[in-house]
Amino acid sequence: MEPFNVADPRIIHNLALAGFMGTGKSSVGRVAGEMLGFAFIDTDELIEAQTGKSVSAIFAQNSEEEFRTLERDVVQGLSALRNTVIATGGGLIVNPGNLASLKTHALVVCLWASPEIIWERVREQTHRPLLNGPDAPARIRELLEQRKPAYRQADAMILTDHRSPKEVAQQVLHQFHLARKGK
Ligand code: S3P
Repeated sequence: MEPFNVADPRIIHNLALAGFMGTGKSSVGRVAGEMLGFAFIDTDELIEAQTGKSVSAIFAQNSEEEFRTLERDVVQGLSALRNTVIATGGGLIVNPGNLASLKTHALVVCLWASPEIIWERVREQTHRPLLNGPDAPARIRELLEQRKPAYRQADAMILTDHRSPKEVAQQVLHQFHLARKGK
């Protein structure tokens, strides 16, 4: 999982953070954005602004499938961005087309955490429709396992267990600077 390949013609204008719910994409993304002097956007927030509905309402009133279509449309609109940190929804890069599209303009760093730590981080929150079922810890383990092969297609993977958003952001920026230098 090399962060950058010198033969690769990509121009890295942006930094995209991917990974499971509760891995800290938004909090790390905000810190990384401040450190870089970049703007920060979150794909879930873009979808909510465009539809006027919360992600939970889209899942409940429409469907997950419709949410994935909205996600795909939002990703297509990101390629014109410059100097932006993009926090993506936890399932977004599971669609290989979304990952490929992000990689045309951004370094895609996946944040990783163990299922136990993810559960600790999300257990008090209620805005994640995929974790609202009866056995959320089991669902986290199952989804994480299912998605692992997709997450491993990111440019780099960073473990976030027992690390603050600032510590993780520093590691992410290290990868970003290496990639932009073409190392
Ligand atoms: C999802 C993660 C959520 C949101 C939606 C689906 C997923 O984003 O996009 O609830 O499939 O993992 P966060 O990772 O920001 O919670």
